Amino acid sequence: MADESINKGRRRFLTASTAVIGGAGLIITAIPFVETWLPSARAESAGAPVTVAIGKIEPGQMVRYGWRSQPVFVVNRTPEQLQWLPKQDSRLRDPESKESDQPKYCQNATRSIKPEWMVLIGICTHLGCVPDYKGEVKPEPFDPNWKGGFYCPCHHSRYDLAARVYQGVPAPLNMVVPPYHFVDDTHIQIGVDPKGAA
Ligand code: FES
Repeated sequence: MADESINKGRRRFLTASTAVIGGAGLIITAIPFVETWLPSARAESAGAPVTVAIGKIEPGQMVRYGWRSQPVFVVNRTPEQLQWLPKQDSRLRDPESKESDQPKYCQNATRSIKPEWMVLIGICTHLGCVPDYKGEVKPEPFDPNWKGGFYCPCHHSRYDLAARVYQGVPAPLNMVVPPYHFVDDTHIQIGVDPKGAA
């Protein structure tokens, strides 16, 4: 049942590609309905926060945004995907995220503010490639017991759906979670901690 549900999600799976053009920091979003409130080029290069609309990201989908010229992945995790997170701990290098980089308010079992929303810098901690999202719980050529996550084809690093790195791969750390907060139920601002966060 869980597999079926995620497969359906996969068919609807869509990634909004973004690209940085030249030095201007202009971001092109391939999906019109995924609204990104862009800062000016000057503000973007200075690291201004980016507010993104997440209301139309369906369960199981990942959408890619840009912030500080880096890819930011936002995944709407399904209950089926979430249920596998604690079951992966014994296969991971840093399951409690003690050595990895995330805000304090995201150093928890799901590495997030709300369990269903994963927000991360989509850069492999090995040599900086951009991993693929492999959200389906199904055998993959690189792992017959795959439970969903991120796969970096460059040198075969693997991460679970909380972007925690597997043991026995070249990447040393979990992927980075940036500061972010929920502006409201359908908007996230990337680059700013929640009010009152330490
Ligand atoms: S850059 Fe990802 S595995 Fe090497």
